[in-house]
Amino acid sequence: MQIEDIFRNNEKWVAERLEADPEYFNQLSQGQNPNYLYIGCSDSRVTAETLMGAKPGEVFVHRNIANLAPNNDLNVLSVINFAVNHLKVKDVIVCGHYKCGGIKSAMQAKDVGLLNPWLRNIRDVYRLHKEELNAISSEVERYDRLVELNVIEQCINVIKTRDVQNALLENRIKIHGWVFDMRTGKLIDLKIDIDKVMQEIMDVYRLFDQED
Ligand code: CO
Repeated sequence: MQIEDIFRNNEKWVAERLEADPEYFNQLSQGQNPNYLYIGCSDSRVTAETLMGAKPGEVFVHRNIANLAPNNDLNVLSVINFAVNHLKVKDVIVCGHYKCGGIKSAMQAKDVGLLNPWLRNIRDVYRLHKEELNAISSEVERYDRLVELNVIEQCINVIKTRDVQNALLENRIKIHGWVFDMRTGKLIDLKIDIDKVMQEIMDVYRLFDQED
């Protein structure tokens, strides 16, 4: 695809939208009211809205390398804050994907320059789950499992924020961990038991008095 193609595609898309609904862009420009916050990987093959069949206005999207939510990253924290407090999304989704280059890179003894500190977040996930991961003899299965464990740990990172703790206390959001399998095209719900996760971690990460 050439740059000129992109603008031609855009014109075609505008024409199609207007043909289906002359008010389409008027409506779109009135504002957004998405129910979902999606935190996914920047990988060009994991096209958030397409794989979910979502329309413009339905999903607030944040993507970075390996779908991380470190609590010292102002970018992801701002997205979470805005989505949870202002857009009042009802569901927060962390979506990883098998064959993730970021995860693969973090599994190797390799200097990747500027990416070292970012990917170190994944090495930390590996260290937390080293026993389970090292017990998996198949490298492919170990790689897949780290993708899943990273999703779980990023859900925990999301829960570490006060914005999300407030929303969970008020029972107005749900957290979901998913994996996209590009080998089949399927979206897989890891069915993370968030209540159980909370019971295990909140004594450490709670940011409010229990009496609050
Ligand atoms: Co990726």
